[in-house]
Order: sequence, then structure tokens, then C-alpha cells
Amino acid sequence: MLSNVVSSQWAHSRYGGVVPELAARAHVRLIGPVTLAALDTAGIALNQVTCIAATHAPGLLGALLTGLPFAKALSFSLDIPFVGVNHTEGHLFAIRLEYPDLKPPFLAAVLSGGHTELLVVNDWCSYEILGSTLDDACGEAFDKVAKLLGLSYPGGAALEELARQGNASIRFPVPLADSAEHADSFDFSFSGLKTAVLYYLRDHPALDSPARADVAASFQEAAITAVVNRIIRAVNELGLRTVGISGGVAANSTLKNRLAHAGKEHGFETLVPRPEYCTDNAAMIAAAGVERLERFGPSPLSLPALARSPLSPRTQDC
Ligand code: KG4
Ligand code: ZN
Repeated sequence: MLSNVVSSQWAHSRYGGVVPELAARAHVRLIGPVTLAALDTAGIALNQVTCIAATHAPGLLGALLTGLPFAKALSFSLDIPFVGVNHTEGHLFAIRLEYPDLKPPFLAAVLSGGHTELLVVNDWCSYEILGSTLDDACGEAFDKVAKLLGLSYPGGAALEELARQGNASIRFPVPLADSAEHADSFDFSFSGLKTAVLYYLRDHPALDSPARADVAASFQEAAITAVVNRIIRAVNELGLRTVGISGGVAANSTLKNRLAHAGKEHGFETLVPRPEYCTDNAAMIAAAGVERLERFGPSPLSLPALARSPLSPRTQDC
């Protein structure tokens, strides 16, 4: 990897979430300078590039409709292949960026602000989805609870920091775990947990700082328990011994520690990319693009941008 330039959009913290129109405008403004910065850092010229990969789905359409046509136009003008990548698949390739020798099959969890997916990577570009969230994504729940606690957006990392100063002394419900109906399911649900925190804060309006830290620690404990328990059940049922996690929430140290601990007890190894590969980045999209180009060739320039698109289990579809 020669360079991995990420341009974060801090404008959203003022509004407590991503404002799609602002995101789209910032993309238009930044895509050229970020591309030049990536080439500059890599020390290569545009005419040395041999393929361009870009996310085509899922995501905010305004953002996709900036990056996708930009990549297509550039590939057309340079006469080099273009490859469209599913964003969730990109997060899986972040694991391979960190562990180049990793061989499927393995269990993977993609835990980000937009997705919560538990899946089996049977082969690169061939996946079996075991479960996903029925409502909020895991990172989204962290962000919403962070907002309730007065932390700025995106609040996942700040919530973890606050939780470090508290004790998980409040028993918030572990999503779906208490329900017999979902005993065999690998799906997730986080909105009930978020609502439980909302009600707790409403019922205890004058919390001092240590008590707020306890709320953060207790929420984090419940959310992480939901994830870790499903991973333990999946490795035991499927007999897989390697677990890769990715997406912004995979940067959470408590989650990493809990998985390392569970791995010792249940006999699996957890692979976690470094934080800058866990959160959204272009290197993971390039890594997926290289694999797709080798296996399936270039994507057509007619490939559409799609706001929603689950990771396809069929290998050719991206
Ligand atoms: O993968 P990502 O950068 O973007 C999406 O594809 O959504 O994930 C961002 C999400 C946000 O919800 C953010 O709050 C969460 O990851 N996040 C964390 C931590 N760092 C980032 N959540 C919990 N603990 C963290 N340390
Ligand atoms: Zn992402």
C-alpha cells in the first residue's frame, strides 16, 4: 500500500450526524485534491495507475454519485479498467490488508456506522451472510447513545473513552439475547438498547460525571456482549477457528479484549486490522478491487450507484 488518504468531514459534528447534502458537496470539493494527495504521497504519476476501484454501493447516494462517476471518467480517459466494489466487501478486505496471508474460510463481523453483519467468508468474493441488524447498526447505536450523553458526532470513540472511567453497573438489556424467539438467530438489534439508555437518562436527569461514565460503560458492555456472544455461538456451530472483525466499531479496545479472552476459552483467534483500516478508507476498496479484477475482470461503466445493496453471496456480483 503506497498511500491511504482519508478526508474526514468534521462539519457533521455540528449537526450531530451526517447531513447528506453537506456530505455530497464536500465530496465534490474534495475528491480532486484527495486523489492528487494520494498520488503525491505514493510518489507516482496518474499515468502509472493501472486500474481504478470505487465504491458503488451501499451508501449515501450523493457521496456515491461523486466518487463513482469520478472513478469511471478517470478510467475512461486513462484507458484503464474500472472496478466497482461493494462497501461491505471493502471492510472485509481491510482484514486482508492487515493479514495478507489470511486464507478463507473464516468468520467475519463487519461493525460500522452503517452496517452490522456476521458472515462466513468461504472464499474471497464468496460470502454467506449469517445475520445482520434488524434496526440500528452497531456504530449507529454508539453514536446515538454518545449523543444522548452529550458527546459530539461521531461518538463511538468518545463513548469508549468515557466508558473507561465508569463501571458497567447498570443492567441494560442485551439486544435479542433475552428472547427465546431469536435463540437460533444470528441477527442483531440495537434500537431497544438505545431506548433503554434514553429512558434511564430521562428517569435520572441530574447525573454527575461518574454516573454518566457508568451509563456509557453499561451501554458498551451490553452492545459488546451482544456481538461477542453471537461470534462465540457462530464459531462453535460452524467449527471455524479464525474470526476477522472490521468496520469502525472494530477499533473498540474493549471489544478486542473481550474477543481475545473468548478466543482463549473457545479456541479461536481474532484478527483485527489497525484502526485506520477498520474505519472507512480507500485502501480497503483498492484491495477488494484488485481481487475482483483478477477474478472477474473490469466492471461495466454502466454499473449503477445503489443506496442499499446487501453483500451478494454470488461471486460475480459486487
Ligand atoms: O466503518 P466506519 O468508519 O464507517 C461506516 O462505514 O459507517 O464506522 C464508523 C462508526 C461510527 O459509528 C463510529 O462511532 C464507530 O464506527 N466507532 C466506534 C469506535 N470508533 C469508531 N465505535 C465504538 N468504539 C470505538 N472506539
Ligand atoms: Zn464503512
